[in-house]
Amino acid sequence: MSSTSHIDQLLAEAGSALKSAATVSEVGEINIRYLGRKGKLPEILKSLKELPADQRKSVGAAANKAKGKLGALVAERLGQLDESPVSNLDYTLPGQSNRIGRPHVLSATMAEMTAVFTRMGFATATGPEVETDQYNFGSLNFPEDHPARDMQDTFYLRQCDGLPAGLLLRTHTSNVQIREFEKRTPPLKIIAPGKVFRHEAVSTRAYCVFHQIEGFQVGENVTLGDLKGVLLAFCREFFSTDVKLRFRPSFFPFTEPSAEVDMSCLLCDGAGCLLCKYDGWLEILGCGMIDPNVMQAVGYDPEKLSGYAFGMGVERVTMLKRRITDIRLFYENDLRFLRQF
Ligand code: PHE
Repeated sequence: MSSTSHIDQLLAEAGSALKSAATVSEVGEINIRYLGRKGKLPEILKSLKELPADQRKSVGAAANKAKGKLGALVAERLGQLDESPVSNLDYTLPGQSNRIGRPHVLSATMAEMTAVFTRMGFATATGPEVETDQYNFGSLNFPEDHPARDMQDTFYLRQCDGLPAGLLLRTHTSNVQIREFEKRTPPLKIIAPGKVFRHEAVSTRAYCVFHQIEGFQVGENVTLGDLKGVLLAFCREFFSTDVKLRFRPSFFPFTEPSAEVDMSCLLCDGAGCLLCKYDGWLEILGCGMIDPNVMQAVGYDPEKLSGYAFGMGVERVTMLKRRITDIRLFYENDLRFLRQF
């Protein structure tokens, strides 16, 4: 049976529970236990009619008063816990988003380039970055005394710990040509993206490590026209604009004839501007028809088969496409640079 002393007791009990409540949700539970729809004080009010008439008034008044008091205590305790809905937290402030990683701009560009070549029917292969002199130079028809073998261009590995002698960091992705030729029978049409290393002075345009995408096709009646067609189709697709290509005669020991390919400047379309150093053209790759000596060395009959090969600089085309002016930015890992892509 309810009485005013019972109500006082409930109030005291609830008060001390509130004092020891340490979280907003604990306060919430106490609130429900004493003041909720089926809470102890509302239950007393609901059962007033069962009381003798002379007690109803005093018990009712005491219960209502206790409800008010306890409500105030609950609000006070919530305020102290500083998590309450009336704290000074500003819910209208913008949130802090989680910063997630992303592929490096070079990886992303290589993937884009690979996708274009894949649509043009090229399979993808990779080869080792630590390579032998034979695959990097010898099988590619480099004479013994070719300057590219010079210590100034090539990083050689010091022989130690049972490592075979004569290992080097590949200076181009053309080693994959030989490795794939040895494994496969033509016709074949392959690209090989990867890292290459050169012991060169670092500048805005040159770095000691960079990336190339090698491409080559061998079969019957593969012609220089096929090479030009593939390169032009690639560039127009990749740069999404009607670029022109210019083939300049050049020399590589493993191709004959050889050419370096310039693309009409993306900014001025050949008129001359800062990007192309007022030349109107930008060099993007080396290429040529695979030398019969290279074919013979891997057992392909140069009388029956022919092929082209090209090696495209990934940094170069990325810089053109994204208007990046210094190759070193790719390797400094400055987040202000990386987050732009
Ligand atoms: N490997 C050459 C270079 O790195 C480019 C190239 C590839 C030239 C294939 C011809 C054919 O300079």
